Amino acid sequence: MSSYWSRRDAIKIIGLASVPFSLSSWAINEKGEPIILPDDIFHQKLSKPLTAITLGAGSRGNVYGDYSIEYPDQLDIVGVAEPIPFRNERYTKKHNIATTNRFNTWEDVFKKPKFADAIIISTPDTLHYGPCMAALKMGYDVLLEKPISPSERECRDIMELTKKTGRIVAVCHVLRYSPYFIRLKELLQSGAIGEVVSLQHFEPIEHVHMSHSYVRGNWHNSKESTPIILAKSCHDLDIIKWMLGKSSKKIQAFGDLKWFTNKNAPQGSTARCTDGCAVEKTCPYSALKIYYQQRQRTYVFDLPEEKEKEAEAIMNYLKTTNYGRCVYRMNNDQCDHYTTNILFDDNITASFSMEAFTPWGGRRTRIMGSMGFIEGDMTQFTIYNFSSGESKKFETKALDVANYKNEGHGGGDWRLVANWIQAVAQQNPALLTSTIDNSIESHVMGFAAELSRKESRVMDIKM
Ligand SMILES: NC(=O)c1ccc[n+]([C@@H]2O[C@H](COP(=O)([O-])OP(=O)(O)OC[C@H]3O[C@@H](n4cnc5c(N)ncnc54)[C@H](O)[C@@H]3O)[C@@H](O)[C@H]2O)c1
Repeated sequence: MSSYWSRRDAIKIIGLASVPFSLSSWAINEKGEPIILPDDIFHQKLSKPLTAITLGAGSRGNVYGDYSIEYPDQLDIVGVAEPIPFRNERYTKKHNIATTNRFNTWEDVFKKPKFADAIIISTPDTLHYGPCMAALKMGYDVLLEKPISPSERECRDIMELTKKTGRIVAVCHVLRYSPYFIRLKELLQSGAIGEVVSLQHFEPIEHVHMSHSYVRGNWHNSKESTPIILAKSCHDLDIIKWMLGKSSKKIQAFGDLKWFTNKNAPQGSTARCTDGCAVEKTCPYSALKIYYQQRQRTYVFDLPEEKEKEAEAIMNYLKTTNYGRCVYRMNNDQCDHYTTNILFDDNITASFSMEAFTPWGGRRTRIMGSMGFIEGDMTQFTIYNFSSGESKKFETKALDVANYKNEGHGGGDWRLVANWIQAVAQQNPALLTSTIDNSIESHVMGFAAELSRKESRVMDIKM
């Protein structure tokens, strides 16, 4: 058995609680800095919680805000900007926010003198740039949802202003904080499979998830939000780049919207699933089945607390919002299949596919090394050692080092928040792996991929 097994095995046997050192202290990022986990020895007990203002109290604003409910000694949400009254009210109550710190829109927050340590930007994609620039100018540190911005120029502007002001901007590339991907990166960096030669990464979106977010939902139109390679897959381009720890040189992409178009609307289908559609009973995308009967993905609706009023409220949403519309009759333009090839330094190659038509989600990755091979599906991975002929399976849950309850994005969501709080409290961006200057390259890759797809050419990636 080769040496890299022994450290892991020892950790498993002696139990994680008693490990006296950071499990990840031997892993480094692309700049050679150590990768740090939330329970790291570099993390300090705070004398008071970090104060933050949330811009956009939708799904993501609540994921991050909820951290403060669980860990009030670390984070205190003291302000909110949200135009939907129900959401504004709910968030205000949940976090006990003073009336004077409640706003309808992000602009209003910056009309008031600075009143918190940091800003959480969880507004829609096209509303990241304005608040981020305003926050930096006023001296706030920032937690910034991805994409940084749908425009490359704006991404670069934010990076420049971050450097100029010396503030901290953490990009929500949450996969970088998931134990699964951290383990994979550690293994690659430790030489566990020799020299990395190439990588295949697959993002199966899952067909109903595709219909929900990229056909009916917020990101159905790339011009009004962001092309899907950034909206969905900037995580994937980023995690590929991060795991390899190399700079990208060239990218090539193909992709198309093949299925969710008017010409594929079945005969007898109607504008809405609630309009007496002739094929609703057998359609995999029936809004009645997904949202009303199965109550899937209803987090996008602002539902009443009273359970008995829920069904009527959902039906009303299906009759009045995009979530009830026929998937073949939307003004959607996002690709439902997208492949890219990427060339990295040292001639390492990576291929990536984003696919709508799968029965399940959960990213799959294969990594080819000169001395071994890794194959994983985000819950577990197997590593093969060519010299010993052995293979070993790792359950990432067994190696999970923190007791963060929120397991969104493989446990990455709240681990990101934990790291960001420490980075801001200690004014040390090295405690983060997704600072804007670490994260911007994968956005540039996404912009180049989209140009490649549209113009049928191989693009150089220029940082
Ligand atoms: N990191 C991830 O994995 C991940 C996952 C999903 C979404 N996102 C990103 O997070 C961001 C938010 O997505 P979401 O799913 O929470 O969307 P959402 O629609 O649930 O929330 C966005 C909120 O912003 C509010 N808003 C709109 N205009 C505003 C304004 N002028 N001022 C303040 N608030 C305003 C909306 O009313 C809404 O409540 C998007 O950029 C999205 O791409 C990231």
